[in-house]
Amino acid sequence: MKIQSQNSLKSRKFFKISLVLCSIAFLSLLFSFNQKPPNCTDCHRRKIIAVESSQSQPPTNISHLLFGIAGSTKTWKKRQSYCELWWMPNVTRGFVWVDEKPNATWPATSPPYRVSADTSEFSYTCWYGSRSAVRLARIVKESFELGVENVRWFVMGDDDTVFFVENLVTVLGKYDHNQMYYIGSNSESVEQDVIHLYGTAYGGGGYAISYALAVELVRILDGCLDRYASLYGGDQKVQACVTEIGVPLTKESGFHQVDIRGSQYGLLAAHPVAPLVSLHHVDYLPPIFPTMIKIDALKALKTAYNLDPGRTLQQSFCYDPARNWSISVSWGYTVQLYPWLATPKDMEKSFQTFETWKSWSDGPFTFNTRPVQSDPCEMPILFFLDLVESPNRTVTNYKRQLDVWEKECSKDEFQLGQKVERFRVVTSGPFSSSHWIKAPRRQCCQVVNATSMDNVVNVWMRGCNPFETVTPPQW
Ligand SMILES: *[C@@H]1O[C@H](CO)[C@@H](O)[C@H](O)[C@H]1NC(C)=O
Ligand SMILES: *[C@@H]1O[C@H](CO)[C@@H](O)[C@H](O)[C@H]1NC(C)=O
Ligand SMILES: *[C@@H]1O[C@H](CO)[C@@H](O)[C@H](O)[C@H]1NC(C)=O
Ligand SMILES: *[C@@H]1O[C@H](CO)[C@@H](O)[C@H](O)[C@H]1NC(C)=O
Ligand SMILES: *[C@@H]1O[C@H](CO)[C@@H](O)[C@H](O)[C@H]1NC(C)=O
Ligand SMILES: *[C@@H]1O[C@H](CO)[C@@H](O)[C@H](O)[C@H]1NC(C)=O
Ligand SMILES: *[C@@H]1O[C@H](CO)[C@@H](O)[C@H](O)[C@H]1NC(C)=O
Repeated sequence: MKIQSQNSLKSRKFFKISLVLCSIAFLSLLFSFNQKPPNCTDCHRRKIIAVESSQSQPPTNISHLLFGIAGSTKTWKKRQSYCELWWMPNVTRGFVWVDEKPNATWPATSPPYRVSADTSEFSYTCWYGSRSAVRLARIVKESFELGVENVRWFVMGDDDTVFFVENLVTVLGKYDHNQMYYIGSNSESVEQDVIHLYGTAYGGGGYAISYALAVELVRILDGCLDRYASLYGGDQKVQACVTEIGVPLTKESGFHQVDIRGSQYGLLAAHPVAPLVSLHHVDYLPPIFPTMIKIDALKALKTAYNLDPGRTLQQSFCYDPARNWSISVSWGYTVQLYPWLATPKDMEKSFQTFETWKSWSDGPFTFNTRPVQSDPCEMPILFFLDLVESPNRTVTNYKRQLDVWEKECSKDEFQLGQKVERFRVVTSGPFSSSHWIKAPRRQCCQVVNATSMDNVVNVWMRGCNPFETVTPPQW
């Protein structure tokens, strides 16, 4: 009985698939008669082959990505160090697209360059923008037209975008490049999204266009750019063209445009439950670690990232019931010690250590924030990554950092907490590559080997047990 019904289910499924394939074939045929797409006489056939083969394809890896970095010859010297943080010569593939042929020899540690085609024929009418936006919008087309083999994703980024490439591969690997995808994220500042649209994948955070979408996009792009001559940025122009095709933004919250002014601390200490894919505006904002210069601070985060890419910036909350402490870990970056019982609902909110990008105002942002209080007794005690003592992949150390907030609290509850010099966060090993394919869930943690005398607190960060919750003790 069961077997029979399964069989009939299977054949119905087969029938359905055949029907879909036939419809695709028929529609494509119809389309090709009506529209006569240039140089694409076998388009419909190729599409069907793509649909058929997508199930059996090897998983997406780093070599399937082709990066197109929006650069300029004159500023490359200034920006190259940010790009070289993530670029792996002979591993990552792609180009920096520049406006003129460089005079000096091009650094071997940088992505190779290509000089963009002249765009002076194109129309650009945004009075407050720069017409280089047209050149940057065309990078996806120029990249496509290079005809590089085995490309599944065209990844666009700025010269001050820092990609976390392994995580980017993980994220893109969830999607079928033979379907039309436009993947990225929008701005953190609502004022930006109102002007440049919520549906735009912002170029600074980087975005990815699947091969299938690129095929259609490059055909309409040039004409499209003239239609949207009034739009400010290259990323917006691309969005306008993509939306003519009818493809919406697939939002992945690990892409960060970082459209904020002030410190990113709050943002990085409360990352969404998603792999970290990119950071941006690194040149405009203060160093992410308060005691370092910008590039060294990013290198420090990168060092932690290399130990456990998928876990980087992942938050985890636990309590020390003996001392009524709440602890929030942002792995690889910071630990917050609250000498009181705080709820996950509060701890997952970003401290607003920043203002909006354009008008430097107090919000709104596309996520919830909580204010930085001037009373230090309402703020947690902060610890920052300190790698010196742990070359161990499973252990990260976080050192007490004084004076991040204005002053220190002198209340009794804080005395004990202020004696803590260091957090030691232990995991059972790096996230496996399959972690982020599963339904997202924040990891759990627990304080281990707690003794009130210690100036070191050990925290074990681990997957949650069934039915485990982060509930304040005695609530
Ligand atoms: C089609 O491709 C051929 C060679 O690949 C080229 O010569 C021709 O100009 C192309 N036609 C169009 C309309 O792009
Ligand atoms: C990536 O996958 C391709 C198969 O599509 C394989 O040939 C190649 O060796 C892989 N490269 C890496 C770096 O894993
Ligand atoms: C290259 O040299 C030419 C001639 O000296 C100069 O006009 C141009 O600005 C230089 N370009 C760069 C990118 O330095
Ligand atoms: C990259 O490959 C080229 C050619 O195989 C080689 O000459 C070059 O040294 C390599 N660069 C690095 C940084 O490995
Ligand atoms: C922790 O807080 C609870 C509830 O607020 C209180 O009853 C308990 O005495 C506190 N324990 C310590 C060790 O401070
Ligand atoms: C790393 O730390 C863990 C936990 O403390 C320990 O079990 C493991 O042996 C350490 N590995 C190395 C290579 O030191
Ligand atoms: C806790 O203490 C035990 C016994 O001293 C030790 O074996 C274990 O590694 C410690 N755990 C951590 C996470 O430091």
